[in-house]
Amino acid sequence: MTTATPRLQIALDTFTLDDAYRALQPAAASVDIIEVGTILCLSEGMRAVREIHALFPEKDLLADVRIAEAGSIISRLAFDSGANLVSVVAGASLTTVGQVCKVAEEYGAEVQIELDEANRTDAAVHWRAAGVKHVIVHRSRDAEAAGSLRWKRSDIDSIRLLDQLGFTVTITGGITASELPQLSTEPVGIVIAGRSIVQAADPAKAAADFRTALGAVWP
Ligand code: 5RP
Ligand code: MG
Repeated sequence: MTTATPRLQIALDTFTLDDAYRALQPAAASVDIIEVGTILCLSEGMRAVREIHALFPEKDLLADVRIAEAGSIISRLAFDSGANLVSVVAGASLTTVGQVCKVAEEYGAEVQIELDEANRTDAAVHWRAAGVKHVIVHRSRDAEAAGSLRWKRSDIDSIRLLDQLGFTVTITGGITASELPQLSTEPVGIVIAGRSIVQAADPAKAAADFRTALGAVWP
């Protein structure tokens, strides 16, 4: 089990690049990975990836394009725009996953698969064989909407299983710094924080506090 300090990924799910920059510029120093969120990718297109890469060339950059089909074309589009990570939906066929991994290898890039709401991991061993490096476990929106900050037993089981299979495990879903201690014994590799940084009154402080919390929980 890897229990090193997880890396911090900021998710930019704004409609405009300007709104994304309002959070990203002050928060960037505290984050390891910048995610151009699905909403921003759809709203501003690959221009968002190109511009953010140009401004922060030293940062890892995920285009959360949620590939379900046309794996080679979409992944190439994202990598040509400056991303070095792309996301694929868990329901994509193994053929699509394989195509994305092949293109990723060509670019020296990596692939993240986001589990579905039920956190089904049945295909995980095949994803690993195809070359996928990251899997995202997300807290269900229902739990979040119900105001529950608890992670379910099944989420924890998925995190452990995926780690054992050799993935870097990423967690997401309305995460706040204050809830991290409940996962302190879990092998989390990356924590994605979107709204808790982007919508904070002071994104620089929110990101710095998040980073401090990661170091305290996984020293
Ligand atoms: C949802 C996403 C979001 O980018 C991710 O959940 C991070 O945002 P937040 O912390 O606001 O939930 O891809 O599927
Ligand atoms: Mg996202």
